[in-house]
Amino acid sequence: MRILGIETSCDETSAAVADGPRRVLSNLVHTQIAQHQPYGGVVPEVAARSHVERLPGLVEEAMRGAGAGWNSLDAVAVTSGPGLATSLLVGVAAAKALAIRLGRPLYAVHHLDGHLYSVFLDPAFPEKLRLANGLALLVSGGHTSLVQIRGGRRGGLLGATLDDAAGEALDKGAKLLGLGYPGGPAIEAAAAGGDPARYDFPRGLGPGTRQAPCGGLRRDLCFSFSGLKTALLYHLRDHPAGLDPARDLPHVAASYQEAVVDALIGRVRSAAEFVRPAFLACAGGVARNRRLRAKLGDFAAAAGLPLMLAPPEFCTDNAGMIAAAAAAGLGCVADPPGALEIHPTWPLPADDRREKGEARSE
Ligand code: KG4
Ligand code: ZN
Repeated sequence: MRILGIETSCDETSAAVADGPRRVLSNLVHTQIAQHQPYGGVVPEVAARSHVERLPGLVEEAMRGAGAGWNSLDAVAVTSGPGLATSLLVGVAAAKALAIRLGRPLYAVHHLDGHLYSVFLDPAFPEKLRLANGLALLVSGGHTSLVQIRGGRRGGLLGATLDDAAGEALDKGAKLLGLGYPGGPAIEAAAAGGDPARYDFPRGLGPGTRQAPCGGLRRDLCFSFSGLKTALLYHLRDHPAGLDPARDLPHVAASYQEAVVDALIGRVRSAAEFVRPAFLACAGGVARNRRLRAKLGDFAAAAGLPLMLAPPEFCTDNAGMIAAAAAAGLGCVADPPGALEIHPTWPLPADDRREKGEARSE
């Protein structure tokens, strides 16, 4: 099954061709970082315009890179949500046009299913675990959740963030530290040589947030990052040397990054004790972070769990994961293709009853 994938949910324009669920032949990503950098975050209007300019060329380049002719395509797949409405519209409109023109089916893929599926794109993923029950940490700029993996696809939702996503916490922290956008890689670079134990930043839901609603999910599996950036704001007010690269900045950046990583690892530990998975997985933009990868490695080794990390090139937004996920059967057919709509706030689809009973607390 040869699929052309398109991803434009946020600020990366991407086109890819996959030959079946395990082989991504081409995966081209145009990142708009430079365009959004002056604003310190993604500006939807700027993102949408850039998608319009870049997508046609990227699609052609992805087809050329894969050595694929239009007639060799079996289907087109596109991220239809969640994401920025104006960004999603560009990719969905292009995918519809192509599917209609080629007379091929159009698959709508949930962005998080794409991220989740990216762990299976590691060529080292062991065959015997492909259908096993796993536990996945999905960490990106817009999402932070713990989900079960069952039979190679998403199972029940176990935990989610109550406010900011982990990537968002890094992006906001970097802004306060004057490190620019995107914050995750900037903080990771600034933290080099810093002492991660120098400052003690909060690790999520503390006693003061005991009453925070968790939407029926277990509290010990939910994340909260909004207090972290406030703690950084107060820290910098009281310790201005934190902004000085020659003095405290590496320590502040390392300590802040450590707080995010520890908050994630703590919930992964609780979830692993709860569902006893056969393997652990991590995907999404923040999964590129080397400190997170190393600490997940330490935890998995201590727990005796195989760890499957999405390959770095498939961590941040890309169409390769969308095309491959569709080839693996994780998309929904839009029938007719022209009827496909965008779903900017597409929640993780409801779990089945059995998973709900297992995953949710009273
Ligand atoms: O998955 P992604 O490309 O987009 C969303 O679906 O949100 O993730 C983008 C996020 C940003 O918040 C960015 O700061 C973070 O991933 N990120 C990182 C690293 N590279 C990207 N965070 C920590 N360390 C990194 N190396
Ligand atoms: Zn993403």
